[in-house]
Amino acid sequence: MSSSYLVTGGAGFIGSHLVEALLAAGARVRVLDNFITGHRRNLREGAELIEGDVAALDTCRRAVDGIDFVLHQAAIPSVPRSVADPLTSHRANVDGTLNLLVAARDAGVTRLIFAGSSSVYGNSATLPKREDMVPNPLSPYALQKLVGERYGQMFHALYGFETVSIRYFNVFGPRQDPGSPYSGVISRFATALLANEPPTIYGDGEQTRDFTYVANVVDGVLKACTAPNAAGQAINVAVGGRISLNALLEGMNRSVGTRLSAVYKDTRTGDVRDSQADITKAREILGYTPTVDLAEGLDRTIAWYRTQS
Ligand code: UD1
Repeated sequence: MSSSYLVTGGAGFIGSHLVEALLAAGARVRVLDNFITGHRRNLREGAELIEGDVAALDTCRRAVDGIDFVLHQAAIPSVPRSVADPLTSHRANVDGTLNLLVAARDAGVTRLIFAGSSSVYGNSATLPKREDMVPNPLSPYALQKLVGERYGQMFHALYGFETVSIRYFNVFGPRQDPGSPYSGVISRFATALLANEPPTIYGDGEQTRDFTYVANVVDGVLKACTAPNAAGQAINVAVGGRISLNALLEGMNRSVGTRLSAVYKDTRTGDVRDSQADITKAREILGYTPTVDLAEGLDRTIAWYRTQS
């Protein structure tokens, strides 16, 4: 692999896994990160670093110079954080994406892969969620992800610039930061159980998610760079199952060897009730198939958090 890749948000959770996979495949990799939600400890040796913000157009222009593929992961990725502070997340998620699209188009980048989100579906009447369903964002974050995705599709239609939106479904795995109230639920549960503290569940715990181990997402994103019919598309990348938070906690208690009950708090505003992906389109267009299921992914993830605690 001799192509060059820009990973925005490459010091973040998903971005750092992409960087690692690209370096292992022999690609040239540049990271753009402002370290607002990313961490220096996630940087991988061998990747070039530009410290800066996608919300600045000149930074984006510098970052895309000489790049073949842009994997745009930089975002402020939290539903409740966007409810609490919609302006800050809009600037990162919408202004940042538009800047990067303009810069990448102008620089002659081959294709840009956008980190889309399952949150754009909102509460759909039926499950699993298919890409041809009408989006129904319930939070600023979900709306911002939809706008970014639509901008990408528009750049394809208007300027012939190739973009693909990969809609992630509750990605988890090593290096996901558990350190904020906005962190992903599996990172929160894992660190609570390992510290022998009761985890928190918002709502009754019967909400469901299609939790996706990060290696599956890396695979889907890298396939999207070269899949022939992917440009202009939004594509779910997930496992295709769903589990309630109560059942998830039970399984994680078993893996960790604890029997901790949750403390139940009010449902978060903007929260989606059920989430499960139809992954037919990913199979057809990307040749994607999930390789790590939930149980295996949880084992690997808990093993990693153990090394951290
Ligand atoms: C949402 C999006 C996802 C996006 C992510 C970014 C949906 C279906 N998914 O994930 O695409 O990438 O935001 O952050 O909209 N919870 C607890 N206890 C905790 C933490 C969370 O009970 O300590 C609950 C939440 O209220 C929610 C579920 O667990 O019901 C999952 O929460 P979280 O991991 O934050 O992800 P989503 O909000 O589902």
